[in-house]
Amino acid sequence: MESAVTKEKVLDENRRVHALENRYYLSRHPEQTNFFQNAILKNTVDEICATLNPTSKILDLGCGTGYLSLKFLSRGYPLTGLDLSREMIQAFEESIPATLKPQARLVVGDAEEFLSQNQDEYDVIVLSAILHHLFDYESVLRQICARLSSGNKLLVFFEPLKQEVHSPIKFALHRALSWLDEKLYRFEMKVRNIPVLDDEYHHSDYQRQFGGIDPNRVDEVLRGEGLEVLQIKKYCARRYGLHAWLANRVLGTQNTFNLLATRP
Ligand SMILES: C[S@@+](CC[C@H](N)C(=O)[O-])C[C@H]1O[C@@H](n2cnc3c(N)ncnc32)[C@H](O)[C@@H]1O
Repeated sequence: MESAVTKEKVLDENRRVHALENRYYLSRHPEQTNFFQNAILKNTVDEICATLNPTSKILDLGCGTGYLSLKFLSRGYPLTGLDLSREMIQAFEESIPATLKPQARLVVGDAEEFLSQNQDEYDVIVLSAILHHLFDYESVLRQICARLSSGNKLLVFFEPLKQEVHSPIKFALHRALSWLDEKLYRFEMKVRNIPVLDDEYHHSDYQRQFGGIDPNRVDEVLRGEGLEVLQIKKYCARRYGLHAWLANRVLGTQNTFNLLATRP
Protein backbone atom coordinates (compact mmCIF):
# COMPACT_ATOMS: atom_id res chain seq x y z
CA MET A 1 0.00 0.00 0.00
CA GLU A 2 1.24 3.52 -0.82
CA SER A 3 2.16 5.54 2.27
CA ALA A 4 0.16 8.71 3.06
CA VAL A 5 1.27 11.80 1.19
CA THR A 6 2.69 14.45 3.49
CA LYS A 7 3.98 17.96 2.88
CA GLU A 8 7.56 16.63 3.22
CA LYS A 9 6.89 13.96 0.57
CA VAL A 10 5.54 16.57 -1.86
CA LEU A 11 8.58 18.79 -1.22
CA ASP A 12 10.99 15.86 -1.71
CA GLU A 13 9.26 14.81 -4.93
CA ASN A 14 9.43 18.39 -6.23
CA ARG A 15 13.14 18.53 -5.45
CA ARG A 16 13.69 15.20 -7.22
CA VAL A 17 11.61 15.96 -10.34
CA HIS A 18 12.93 19.49 -10.81
CA ALA A 19 16.52 18.27 -10.45
CA LEU A 20 15.69 16.12 -13.50
CA GLU A 21 13.91 19.01 -15.30
CA ASN A 22 16.89 21.28 -14.73
CA ARG A 23 17.99 23.40 -17.70
CA TYR A 24 15.74 21.40 -20.08
CA TYR A 25 12.61 22.60 -18.27
CA LEU A 26 11.41 25.09 -20.90
CA SER A 27 12.47 22.81 -23.80
CA ARG A 28 10.28 20.11 -22.24
CA HIS A 29 7.40 22.55 -21.82
CA PRO A 30 6.90 24.27 -25.20
CA GLU A 31 3.33 25.09 -24.06
CA GLN A 32 4.98 27.90 -22.06
CA THR A 33 7.02 29.32 -24.92
CA ASN A 34 4.99 28.91 -28.13
CA PHE A 35 3.77 32.04 -29.96
CA PHE A 36 0.28 31.87 -28.47
CA GLN A 37 1.48 31.66 -24.86
CA ASN A 38 4.29 34.17 -25.53
CA ALA A 39 1.71 36.78 -26.51
CA ILE A 40 -0.26 36.12 -23.30
CA LEU A 41 2.95 36.33 -21.25
CA LYS A 42 4.05 39.59 -22.87
CA ASN A 43 0.64 41.27 -22.50
CA THR A 44 0.32 40.18 -18.86
CA VAL A 45 3.79 41.46 -17.91
CA ASP A 46 3.27 44.71 -19.90
CA GLU A 47 -0.05 45.34 -18.13
CA ILE A 48 1.55 44.92 -14.69
CA CYS A 49 4.64 46.98 -15.54
CA ALA A 50 2.45 49.87 -16.74
CA THR A 51 1.35 50.31 -13.09
CA LEU A 52 4.85 50.14 -11.54
CA ASN A 53 7.63 52.64 -10.94
CA PRO A 54 11.24 51.82 -11.94
CA THR A 55 12.26 50.77 -8.41
CA SER A 56 9.26 48.49 -7.76
CA LYS A 57 10.40 45.20 -6.26
CA ILE A 58 9.24 41.85 -7.62
CA LEU A 59 9.19 38.46 -5.87
CA ASP A 60 8.83 35.36 -8.08
CA LEU A 61 7.94 32.30 -5.95
CA GLY A 62 8.82 29.04 -7.69
CA CYS A 63 10.74 31.01 -10.34
CA GLY A 64 12.22 27.85 -11.89
CA THR A 65 14.60 28.65 -14.73
CA GLY A 66 13.34 32.24 -14.87
CA TYR A 67 10.36 32.10 -17.24
CA LEU A 68 8.57 35.11 -15.64
CA SER A 69 11.54 36.53 -13.74
CA LEU A 70 13.60 37.23 -16.85
CA LYS A 71 10.74 39.34 -18.27
CA PHE A 72 10.79 41.60 -15.19
CA LEU A 73 14.60 41.69 -15.03
CA SER A 74 14.90 42.69 -18.68
CA ARG A 75 12.45 45.56 -18.02
CA GLY A 76 14.83 46.83 -15.31
CA TYR A 77 13.07 45.81 -12.07
CA PRO A 78 14.90 44.45 -9.01
CA LEU A 79 13.80 40.86 -8.58
CA THR A 80 14.01 38.14 -5.96
CA GLY A 81 13.55 34.66 -7.43
CA LEU A 82 12.91 31.81 -5.02
CA ASP A 83 12.77 28.13 -5.90
CA LEU A 84 12.88 24.86 -4.02
CA SER A 85 15.19 23.32 -6.61
CA ARG A 86 18.90 24.15 -6.50
CA GLU A 87 19.26 22.82 -10.05
CA MET A 88 16.49 25.04 -11.46
CA ILE A 89 17.96 28.11 -9.69
CA GLN A 90 21.42 27.26 -11.02
CA ALA A 91 20.09 26.96 -14.59
CA PHE A 92 18.29 30.30 -14.14
CA GLU A 93 21.43 31.98 -12.75
CA GLU A 94 23.50 30.78 -15.71
CA SER A 95 20.97 32.24 -18.16
CA ILE A 96 20.90 35.78 -16.71
CA PRO A 97 22.86 38.20 -18.90
CA ALA A 98 25.78 39.82 -17.00
CA THR A 99 24.19 43.30 -17.29
CA LEU A 100 21.05 42.11 -15.43
CA LYS A 101 22.78 40.10 -12.69
CA PRO A 102 23.07 43.06 -10.23
CA GLN A 103 19.23 43.36 -10.16
CA ALA A 104 18.68 39.69 -9.35
CA ARG A 105 18.70 37.95 -5.99
CA LEU A 106 18.17 34.19 -6.22
CA VAL A 107 17.27 32.03 -3.24
CA VAL A 108 16.91 28.24 -2.87
CA GLY A 109 14.11 27.28 -0.47
CA ASP A 110 10.48 26.44 0.22
CA ALA A 111 7.99 29.24 -0.53
CA GLU A 112 6.15 28.79 2.78
CA GLU A 113 9.34 28.92 4.82
CA PHE A 114 10.62 31.93 2.87
CA LEU A 115 7.39 33.85 3.43
CA SER A 116 7.44 33.22 7.16
CA GLN A 117 11.13 34.14 7.60
CA ASN A 118 11.75 36.97 5.13
CA GLN A 119 10.13 40.30 5.98
CA ASP A 120 11.09 42.37 2.88
CA GLU A 121 8.35 44.35 1.15
CA TYR A 122 7.48 43.49 -2.46
CA ASP A 123 5.34 45.57 -4.84
CA VAL A 124 4.40 42.52 -6.90
CA ILE A 125 4.46 38.82 -6.00
CA VAL A 126 4.26 36.53 -9.01
CA LEU A 127 3.64 32.79 -9.19
CA SER A 128 3.89 30.86 -12.43
CA ALA A 129 2.80 27.22 -12.49
CA ILE A 130 3.67 26.62 -8.83
CA LEU A 131 0.35 26.41 -6.94
CA HIS A 132 -0.40 22.91 -8.29
CA HIS A 133 2.96 21.73 -6.88
CA LEU A 134 2.09 22.74 -3.32
CA PHE A 135 0.71 20.50 -0.59
CA ASP A 136 -1.45 23.33 0.85
CA TYR A 137 -1.71 26.08 -1.75
CA GLU A 138 -4.45 27.95 0.15
CA SER A 139 -2.22 28.43 3.16
CA VAL A 140 0.59 29.78 0.93
CA LEU A 141 -1.86 32.17 -0.74
CA ARG A 142 -2.93 33.47 2.69
CA GLN A 143 0.72 33.99 3.66
CA ILE A 144 1.26 35.94 0.43
CA CYS A 145 -1.79 38.11 1.10
CA ALA A 146 -0.45 38.99 4.54
CA ARG A 147 2.67 40.36 2.83
CA LEU A 148 0.85 42.65 0.38
CA SER A 149 0.29 46.29 1.44
CA SER A 150 -2.13 48.69 -0.20
CA GLY A 151 -1.52 48.97 -3.97
CA ASN A 152 0.67 45.83 -4.09
CA LYS A 153 -0.23 43.10 -6.56
CA LEU A 154 -0.36 39.33 -6.89
CA LEU A 155 -0.15 37.55 -10.24
CA VAL A 156 -1.10 33.87 -10.42
CA PHE A 157 0.01 32.75 -13.87
CA PHE A 158 -0.27 29.58 -15.97
CA GLU A 159 -2.03 27.34 -13.46
CA PRO A 160 -3.72 24.12 -14.65
CA LEU A 161 -7.47 24.32 -14.40
CA LYS A 162 -9.97 21.50 -14.35
CA GLN A 163 -11.34 21.09 -17.86
CA GLU A 164 -15.06 21.04 -18.45
CA VAL A 165 -16.18 20.36 -22.01
CA HIS A 166 -19.94 19.85 -22.09
CA SER A 167 -20.73 19.31 -25.80
CA PRO A 168 -19.88 15.72 -26.99
CA ILE A 169 -18.73 16.94 -30.42
CA LYS A 170 -16.57 19.62 -28.91
CA PHE A 171 -15.18 17.07 -26.45
CA ALA A 172 -14.27 14.66 -29.29
CA LEU A 173 -12.53 17.46 -31.22
CA HIS A 174 -10.82 18.61 -28.06
CA ARG A 175 -9.50 15.06 -27.41
CA ALA A 176 -8.38 14.68 -31.04
CA LEU A 177 -6.45 17.95 -30.94
CA SER A 178 -4.90 17.02 -27.60
CA TRP A 179 -3.87 13.60 -29.01
CA LEU A 180 -2.22 15.21 -32.06
CA ASP A 181 -0.48 17.80 -29.87
CA GLU A 182 1.00 15.07 -27.62
CA LYS A 183 2.02 12.80 -30.55
CA LEU A 184 3.93 15.63 -32.24
CA TYR A 185 5.45 16.66 -28.91
CA ARG A 186 6.73 13.15 -28.16
CA PHE A 187 8.18 12.90 -31.66
CA GLU A 188 9.93 16.25 -31.27
CA MET A 189 11.39 15.29 -27.86
CA LYS A 190 12.66 12.01 -29.33
CA VAL A 191 14.31 13.78 -32.28
CA ARG A 192 15.87 16.32 -29.90
CA ASN A 193 16.93 13.53 -27.52
CA ILE A 194 15.16 15.11 -24.53
CA PRO A 195 13.59 12.43 -22.29
CA VAL A 196 9.97 13.14 -21.26
CA LEU A 197 9.34 12.79 -17.56
CA ASP A 198 5.59 12.15 -17.34
CA ASP A 199 5.87 9.09 -15.06
CA GLU A 200 7.86 11.22 -12.60
CA TYR A 201 5.31 13.94 -11.95
CA HIS A 202 2.84 11.99 -9.79
CA HIS A 203 3.37 13.54 -6.33
CA SER A 204 5.22 16.66 -7.43
CA ASP A 205 2.11 17.86 -9.32
CA TYR A 206 0.18 17.19 -6.12
CA GLN A 207 -2.91 19.32 -6.82
CA ARG A 208 -3.48 17.70 -10.25
CA GLN A 209 -4.98 14.64 -8.57
CA PHE A 210 -7.78 16.96 -7.42
CA GLY A 211 -8.27 18.19 -11.00
CA GLY A 212 -5.90 21.18 -10.89
CA ILE A 213 -6.48 24.55 -9.25
CA ASP A 214 -9.97 26.03 -9.11
CA PRO A 215 -9.77 29.77 -9.89
CA ASN A 216 -13.06 30.33 -8.04
CA ARG A 217 -11.50 28.93 -4.88
CA VAL A 218 -8.38 31.12 -5.37
CA ASP A 219 -10.71 34.10 -5.82
CA GLU A 220 -12.58 33.20 -2.60
CA VAL A 221 -9.35 32.81 -0.57
CA LEU A 222 -7.94 36.13 -1.83
CA ARG A 223 -11.19 38.04 -1.21
CA GLY A 224 -11.37 36.50 2.26
CA GLU A 225 -7.93 38.03 2.92
CA GLY A 226 -9.10 41.47 1.75
CA LEU A 227 -7.67 41.45 -1.79
CA GLU A 228 -9.54 42.69 -4.83
CA VAL A 229 -9.43 40.26 -7.75
CA LEU A 230 -8.98 42.41 -10.85
CA GLN A 231 -9.19 39.71 -13.53
CA ILE A 232 -9.29 35.98 -14.14
CA LYS A 233 -8.43 34.83 -17.67
CA LYS A 234 -9.13 31.21 -18.66
CA TYR A 235 -7.80 29.72 -21.87
CA CYS A 236 -6.39 26.56 -23.41
CA ALA A 237 -2.64 25.93 -23.39
CA ARG A 238 -1.23 23.45 -25.91
CA ARG A 239 2.30 22.29 -26.69
CA TYR A 240 2.21 24.03 -30.08
CA GLY A 241 1.02 27.55 -30.79
CA LEU A 242 -1.16 26.55 -33.75
CA HIS A 243 -2.97 23.97 -31.60
CA ALA A 244 -3.44 26.54 -28.83
CA TRP A 245 -4.82 28.96 -31.40
CA LEU A 246 -7.28 26.32 -32.73
CA ALA A 247 -8.33 25.29 -29.19
CA ASN A 248 -9.02 28.88 -28.18
CA ARG A 249 -10.33 30.42 -31.39
CA VAL A 250 -12.29 27.45 -32.80
CA LEU A 251 -13.14 25.06 -29.93
CA GLY A 252 -13.18 27.54 -27.05
CA THR A 253 -11.82 25.02 -24.54
CA GLN A 254 -9.96 25.93 -21.33
CA ASN A 255 -7.33 24.19 -19.19
CA THR A 256 -5.27 27.06 -17.77
CA PHE A 257 -5.87 30.33 -15.96
CA ASN A 258 -4.17 33.58 -14.97
CA LEU A 259 -5.39 35.80 -12.14
CA LEU A 260 -4.42 39.32 -11.10
CA ALA A 261 -5.29 40.73 -7.68
CA THR A 262 -4.40 43.78 -5.62
CA ARG A 263 -4.70 45.01 -2.05
CA PRO A 264 -7.02 48.08 -2.22
C1 LIG B 1 6.17 23.95 -13.17
S1 LIG B 1 7.64 24.67 -12.53
C2 LIG B 1 7.40 26.38 -13.00
C3 LIG B 1 8.69 27.15 -13.01
C4 LIG B 1 8.53 28.62 -13.45
N1 LIG B 1 7.75 29.38 -12.51
C5 LIG B 1 7.91 28.65 -14.81
O1 LIG B 1 6.76 29.08 -14.95
O2 LIG B 1 8.59 28.22 -15.76
C6 LIG B 1 7.30 24.72 -10.79
C7 LIG B 1 8.46 25.25 -9.95
O3 LIG B 1 8.03 25.37 -8.60
C8 LIG B 1 9.09 24.95 -7.76
N2 LIG B 1 8.51 24.55 -6.47
C9 LIG B 1 7.75 23.48 -6.20
N3 LIG B 1 7.40 23.48 -4.90
C10 LIG B 1 7.94 24.57 -4.35
C11 LIG B 1 7.95 25.12 -3.04
N4 LIG B 1 7.32 24.52 -2.04
N5 LIG B 1 8.61 26.27 -2.82
C12 LIG B 1 9.29 26.89 -3.83
N6 LIG B 1 9.32 26.42 -5.10
C13 LIG B 1 8.65 25.28 -5.35
C14 LIG B 1 9.74 23.82 -8.52
O4 LIG B 1 11.04 23.53 -8.06
C15 LIG B 1 9.67 24.34 -9.95
O5 LIG B 1 10.81 25.05 -10.30
